Amino acid sequence: MAKLLNRDELKQKRDKYIVPGVKQMYKDAPHFVRGKGQYLYDETGREYLDMFAGIVTVSVGHCHPKVTQRTQEQLNTLQHTSTIFMTQPMVDLAEKLAEIAPGAISKSFITNSGTEANEAAIRFARLATGRHEVIALEHSYHGESHLASTLTANYNWRPKTMPAAGVAYAANAYCYRCPFKKTPDSCSLECAKDVERVIQTQTSGQPAVMIAEPIQGVGGAITPPQEYFGAVKKILEKYGALFIADEVQTGVGRTGRDWFGISSWGVTPDLITMAKGLANGLPIGACLMTPEIAEHSTKQQINTFGGNPVSSATGLAVLETIQEERLMENADVQGNYIMSALKEMQKDFPDLIGDVRGKGLMLGVELADKHKTPLVEQCANIVEMSKDDGVIIGKGGLFGNTLRIKPPMTITRDNADTMLKVLKKSLEATSKRMTANV
Ligand SMILES: Cc1ncc(COP(=O)(O)O)c(C=O)c1O
Repeated sequence: MAKLLNRDELKQKRDKYIVPGVKQMYKDAPHFVRGKGQYLYDETGREYLDMFAGIVTVSVGHCHPKVTQRTQEQLNTLQHTSTIFMTQPMVDLAEKLAEIAPGAISKSFITNSGTEANEAAIRFARLATGRHEVIALEHSYHGESHLASTLTANYNWRPKTMPAAGVAYAANAYCYRCPFKKTPDSCSLECAKDVERVIQTQTSGQPAVMIAEPIQGVGGAITPPQEYFGAVKKILEKYGALFIADEVQTGVGRTGRDWFGISSWGVTPDLITMAKGLANGLPIGACLMTPEIAEHSTKQQINTFGGNPVSSATGLAVLETIQEERLMENADVQGNYIMSALKEMQKDFPDLIGDVRGKGLMLGVELADKHKTPLVEQCANIVEMSKDDGVIIGKGGLFGNTLRIKPPMTITRDNADTMLKVLKKSLEATSKRMTANV
């Protein structure tokens, strides 16, 4: 075992050897050495309540005993062969994914990450339609590769390099900052209609596919109106285009009622992409589709690590654990509880909390004043203060002013109360500081 470094030693070594773009969320970052359930421990033994789950990934809690045992068993039995050889865990996982997937979706291409799953989904959609153009939503995040970063319509995550060709962007279904200046009372679903405008003005009129996150994750838990995806799907069908639900964050039950976030909108996509929570932190991704779409991909496809026995066995163990421990129900119950408490808190801090949104344990708190000015510095400070008080909360959004609460789906009511107490304390300190600065 390597000598355990303290956080300063580790920071120095990290700065020396890791590329600078791989940034830390904190100014004063803890050095995490251990995780158990919904808790993380730093090198001094200090405990932190993890309300961000390693960016929405540790779905069943850190080092879940059953999942870890299945990973270890597989690791000790057979670790790797690649997809050109026949092994069972990948096929067992694909069978389970077909069981939980909506509609006719029953074929999987297993990958190592969400980026790869999205790359694959676009390729499958292009092959199936014989078309090229893709529509994505503003504020989206779809990954790091050339194409996935082009699909990502958030300048924070776009490299200063030539983007991929053939991607058009529709206005976002962002009710709090409605691009059409509507309010929930006057909403006429202009955001959904914008998809048709984009097809007519920015494509040949024959796009291959649209990709969207049911709830935008990195974008800050932006949650479209209830009629949105139904209306969008109809427009896509009118133009013969397919629909990919990017469930990399919303998948595996996080939104609390169904395995997939898109089901809350009553829509069945043509393809689904998954990653993150599927294997609780082991590298995995999956692109799910109907057999009709799959059959257009006739050339040999290979993925050296994708579908490897260890990640696949772990993924299956995670899905079984979510069912056995009724974690979707827990995400619903705890999520509703936190959501109500945050809405109450919004009344106490009207000049700090602009919007509370999301579903299940996929929640966002957008910090903005009464004029909707994004409170960027305050958001960073609240995240830092909460960590100092032992609670890990994420942040995101185009402006970096949205708190992201997306814990393991195993959290308890006590955990929710601890997080709410710590958050309230940080909000009070921030509010006092803002008043003193006026
Ligand atoms: C919605 C969404 N899609 C795709 C990705 C990319 O996944 P990965 O980081 O596994 O490549 C992410 C990562 O945050 C994501 O949030």
